[in-house]
Amino acid sequence: MSDVVRLLRDQLAAEVRALPRRTRPGDGARRRLDRAGTVAEVREAARRALPGVIFDFVDGGAGDEVTVRRNVADLEAVELAPRTLVDVSAVDLSVELLGRRLALPVIGAPTGLCGLVHGDGEVALARGLHAAGSLYALAAMGSYSIEEVAAAAPGPLWFQTYLWRDRALVLDLLDRARVAGYEALVVTVDVPRAASRDRDRRNGFGLPPRLTARSALDGARRPAWTWRFLTRPRLTAASVAAGRLADGDSVSVAAYVDRQFDPAATWDDLAWLRERWSGPLVVKGVMTVADARHAVARGADAVVVSNHGGRQLDRVSSTIRALPAVVEAVGDRAEVVVDGGFRRGADVVAALALGARACMVGRPVVFGLGAGGEAGVRRVMEIFERELRGTLALLGCARAGDLDERFLVARGTAAAASAS
Ligand SMILES: Cc1cc2nc3c(=O)[nH]c(=O)nc-3n(C[C@H](O)[C@H](O)[C@H](O)COP(=O)(O)O)c2cc1C
Repeated sequence: MSDVVRLLRDQLAAEVRALPRRTRPGDGARRRLDRAGTVAEVREAARRALPGVIFDFVDGGAGDEVTVRRNVADLEAVELAPRTLVDVSAVDLSVELLGRRLALPVIGAPTGLCGLVHGDGEVALARGLHAAGSLYALAAMGSYSIEEVAAAAPGPLWFQTYLWRDRALVLDLLDRARVAGYEALVVTVDVPRAASRDRDRRNGFGLPPRLTARSALDGARRPAWTWRFLTRPRLTAASVAAGRLADGDSVSVAAYVDRQFDPAATWDDLAWLRERWSGPLVVKGVMTVADARHAVARGADAVVVSNHGGRQLDRVSSTIRALPAVVEAVGDRAEVVVDGGFRRGADVVAALALGARACMVGRPVVFGLGAGGEAGVRRVMEIFERELRGTLALLGCARAGDLDERFLVARGTAAAASAS
């Protein structure tokens, strides 16, 4: 018997021996996660593990999801320019962001209501990101509170809020974030009102949630998720509930928050907030040079070029297209972070080459959470780490911090050329 045949026979035998163990609920999802080597594969594992209504809440976007697709497509269109015969025996992925060194330039975006995705919700997200040497931005809409996440995940944390109508609530959240040791405040400015998302409407995901025969059946086909959901429900925006609605049930908290988006908020309100937060201030949801300048003029230390992952205004341009002009306008006075559609290490490399300090990822880590809790988040971060390391080595760049436009095809990347 040849070595190859023996190897194949042994592998097959191991597969067969493992079969009975795979019949337990949740085993299929775990196996898929173990085998996932790309973010796309983790997304697929999450799709199988989650009821459709929850998967669509994470995966979906506003309108026709044109911007969701643009974010990804424009990143894919960026052309890298490799250098050869460069010593890349050691590749340093670390970058500095707001005075803190991170092991890699990928951080966790604020994502609300992640307790719906997995009972460990934002705690698992924070722990998974910390394990990778990165940081997590907890959303005010998180299913776990400011204090719960800080206690369970004592690594670097940012706190994200909106300029809600109830300014006393915002100040209360700020105080609590300061006391709990959150390092930076992220203010998201692209939600004057909630956007309409057709998948959520069709699925009956809303207030109050509408249980359809299809979603009930779907839940029955995902026993691991359903078991966690029934035994450890985490539905509410915990920080808000603790601050305002002591006994509020999840529906009334969500309804309360929904009324809080303030369509009248202006840049003056950001200045007001700046006076009340002494730490670093990050303004998230900037897509134009004018808005980047407004943010920096009001004292922002960093801006996040973001279209909310295509979940707010559909038809806006991709973030990688908006990035170069923002870097040029404010990059000497503020750090620039970008999010939206980052699925591959090469995407992150493209953004750094165009002047971003780091990228935020939303859906990728939430898919990881859905596919396997904290282990799934860790897996996603391992994928980014491995892909980044490989891409930088093949690109001939030994340090992520050295990336610049010389590593892109002229200034003629589709993104950069059309943005200028
Ligand atoms: C499930 C989910 C919930 C989100 N919740 C918030 C939120 O509460 N606050 C916020 O500023 N952004 C929120 N976002 C947007 C993310 O912070 C981020 O901008 C976006 O996910 C980036 O795009 P990506 O998902 O393609 O990585 C959410 C995104 C998702 C997928």
